[in-house]
Amino acid sequence: MGEHVKFATKLGIIATTVGSAVGLGNIWRFPYEAGMNGGGAFLMVYILCVLVLGIPVMCAEFIIGRHSKSDTVDAFRKLRPGSRWHYIGYIGILASVLILGYYLVISGWTLEYLFRAITNDLTGKTAAEFRAEQNAFIQSDLRPLLWTYIFLFINYIILSRGVQKGIEKMSNILMPLLFVILLVFCVRSLTLPGSSEGLSFFLHPDFSKITPQVIIRAMGQAFFSLSLGMGILITYSSYFTAKTHLIKTATTVAILDTSVAILSGIIIFPAVFSCGLDPVAGPDLVFVTLPNVFNQMPVSALWSTLFFLLLTVAALTSTVSLFEVSIAFLINYLNMSRKKATRIMMLVIAVLSTVSSLSIGSWSDIRIFGKTLFDACDYFSAIILLPVGGLLISIFIGWFLKKNISREELTNRNKLHEPLFSAIFFCIKYIAPIIIILIFLSGFGII
Ligand code: TRP
Repeated sequence: MGEHVKFATKLGIIATTVGSAVGLGNIWRFPYEAGMNGGGAFLMVYILCVLVLGIPVMCAEFIIGRHSKSDTVDAFRKLRPGSRWHYIGYIGILASVLILGYYLVISGWTLEYLFRAITNDLTGKTAAEFRAEQNAFIQSDLRPLLWTYIFLFINYIILSRGVQKGIEKMSNILMPLLFVILLVFCVRSLTLPGSSEGLSFFLHPDFSKITPQVIIRAMGQAFFSLSLGMGILITYSSYFTAKTHLIKTATTVAILDTSVAILSGIIIFPAVFSCGLDPVAGPDLVFVTLPNVFNQMPVSALWSTLFFLLLTVAALTSTVSLFEVSIAFLINYLNMSRKKATRIMMLVIAVLSTVSSLSIGSWSDIRIFGKTLFDACDYFSAIILLPVGGLLISIFIGWFLKKNISREELTNRNKLHEPLFSAIFFCIKYIAPIIIILIFLSGFGII
């Protein structure tokens, strides 16, 4: 193998990492989780999780990735030869495959809605019609599958072109576009009549609503949204250069990602309240409630097109990152060409997403622990695997890797004066593991 690939530019590093973080998790999952779990209370717990768990665990992944310059399995092998730590890498690959299984289905839905918005098929309908159409669509089996495969194919084109020409180039174009669209929406939403009620639901924490359930869901959401706990950031940071400032990158990514989540809430809740709709709608919030909201605005086709374009862009840069975990592993470990590795992953995910898409449609009777296959994938990966991955990664860095390696990486071999080093290391070593364990114990009713 030749020289390990690198991202070409500083912008590329931020754009790809933020691109991985900002996704359906921010715009689709965050608002409905917040809506169902207490609004402002959820937001507050969420922000705390990002600060005390998110940023330190992200730094931990960066340390592992850049130091080992390898995929998520091999990275642990290089850092602790002969140990079993590389199983963390396998957990990560499992989590990424499970997430992709349903993430691509939702991405397929966004393409359907983008298509319907462009062809002006989302105007002049009642709330009941939007609901009926969404139900008919997801249960029609074939149509959602078709969109999922199209989305897979777009991923294939980007991923097979490689790190710099594919992933980095796409992010450099799409991420600025995403931020521009978001800003336009914010202005639009805040100038709607009656927006203040929605804002107060979303921004005012009602402390009595904070329960162990709310906390465990907020933690899962934070890991999911920041793309933590499964090694994607180990993989991406292996493409960072020796000059990349790791702590600064981690804080920038966390701030941008959290801003997008908050902006999505600011866009969605005022609009929902201003149209007299229910914020507790669950996963259908953006597909049923929002088209209905746009419908009541002038030039609604434009708004819905822009919104679903935003969602598609966000989804694409994230699915690419989810794929890259296993692709990098196959390239490194089995010495495969990038094309072949990409094709194999496409095939695996095509099968899995077919099953999970059908599990919402005609196979919805199949249940695992009372959940549809689709929900089970989501719950098991986001709420369980990611925090467990984050827990193991922080224990590894805090207790098993020489502290000097962490110092070297976070200070770029002492070239940077890094006043935050001790605080971040303390969080990785003590705070993150203790808090993750406590949240699990209380979320599952053990304490
Ligand atoms: N963070 C992305 C989102 O918010 C999803 C995602 C991409 C992800 N890569 C990941 C989640 C890795 C967990 C782990 O939509």
